[in-house]
Amino acid sequence: MKRIGILTSGGDCQALNAAMRGVVKGLSHSVDDLEIYGFYDGYKGLIYGNYRLLTSSDFSGILTKGGTILGTSRQPFKLMRVPDENGLDKVEAMKHTYHKLNLDCLVILGGNGTQKTANLLREEGLNVIHLPKTIDNDIWGTDITFGFQSALNIATDTIDYIHTTAASHNRVFIVEIMGHKVGWLPLHAGIAGGADIILIPEIPYNINKVVEAIDKRTKQGKGFTILAVAEGAISKQDAKLSKKELKAKIKKSKYPSVSYEVAALVEEKTGREVRVTVPGHMQRGGSPCAFDRVLCTQLGAAAAQAILDEDYGCMIGMVNGRTERIPLEEVAGKLKTVDPDCQLIQEAKQIGICFGD
Ligand code: F6P
Repeated sequence: MKRIGILTSGGDCQALNAAMRGVVKGLSHSVDDLEIYGFYDGYKGLIYGNYRLLTSSDFSGILTKGGTILGTSRQPFKLMRVPDENGLDKVEAMKHTYHKLNLDCLVILGGNGTQKTANLLREEGLNVIHLPKTIDNDIWGTDITFGFQSALNIATDTIDYIHTTAASHNRVFIVEIMGHKVGWLPLHAGIAGGADIILIPEIPYNINKVVEAIDKRTKQGKGFTILAVAEGAISKQDAKLSKKELKAKIKKSKYPSVSYEVAALVEEKTGREVRVTVPGHMQRGGSPCAFDRVLCTQLGAAAAQAILDEDYGCMIGMVNGRTERIPLEEVAGKLKTVDPDCQLIQEAKQIGICFGD
C-alpha cells in the first residue's frame, strides 16, 4: 500500500503532465494498492486541503498535454513562514494535510522557489521528492530541467519567423526571450535562431558595442540585424547599481522591458528602424517536445523507484545523461547560471556573435 501526494507549483511549463504520468505509471507498475492524491494549484491545495483522489484514467492521454492537470500558483517561499490573511500558519497547515492523509511521500514538481519550500517541508519531517521543472533551466544540480527544450523550440521558431520579415525590410529586430535572471534560454535560442547579437544577464552589455556590431553588419552589406535579448539582460552601468537602486530605476523607467530600452538607444545611435517582438508566455505553452517527453518519462520513473526504495528528501536530476537522486539540502537555494567563459559562448563569439561586451 502506498499513499502519494502530488502537486505542481510555480509557473507552468510544457511537460508537467508527462512527468506526473511517469511517476504514477512507474508506481502502479509495481504497487497493487496505490492511492494518489492530487493537490490543486500547487502548495495552495496542500495548505487549504484542496485535493482529489486521482485514478489511473487521470494520467491516461496526458503525455502530450501542455500545462498541468492539477493547476498551479505562485506561493513565494519567503512568505511561507508568514501567516495568511486569516492568521493561518501555512507550514503547519501543510503538515496537517500530509498527516491527515497519512501520505508516504509528497512528489513536488516545480522550479527554484518550489524547491526551497520542498526542502523546508523535508526539514519539517515530511517525505518529499522534487522534480526540476522550469523553462529557465536554472536549477542547480541537474544538467537540464524539463520545459527548457520545449520553450527553446518556440523561442527558436520565433527568431526564425522574424528572420524573413527582418531581411525583407532591412530592419533591426529584437526578440525578447524569457529566462528570468539567467541566460540559458536566450543563449541557446539565439544561437539556434542565428541571432547576430545575444544579450544575457551573465554578460552585462555596453550599448556602444551593440551599436558597433550593427554598424559592422551594415558596412558588410547586411541590411538586417537580429538581437536575442534576455528578459533579464542588464547594461554594464545598471549592473553596478545595488538591488534597491536597480528596482527603483526599473519602476521609474518609461520602457515596458529592457528590449524597448535597447531598441530606443539603438534607434537613437544608428538612425535605424528597430522593432521589438516579445513572445512572452507563448514560450511556456503548447505540447512538450519529444525531448521533454523522454526526459519526464525518465525522471518520473526514477522518482517512482526512489519512492519504492523509500529514499526521500531528494531532487531527481539528470547528470551526464543519467537520472540521479540529489539531496535537497545540497541544492535548495542555489541558482545555476551561464558561465560567461564557457565553451559555448567562446564558440559563439568565434563565429562572430556579439554579446555586447
Ligand atoms: O520561471 C519561468 C518564467 O516563465 C520566467 O522565464 C519568467 O520570468 C517568469 O516565469 C514569468 O512569470 P509569470 O508567469 O508569473 O509572469
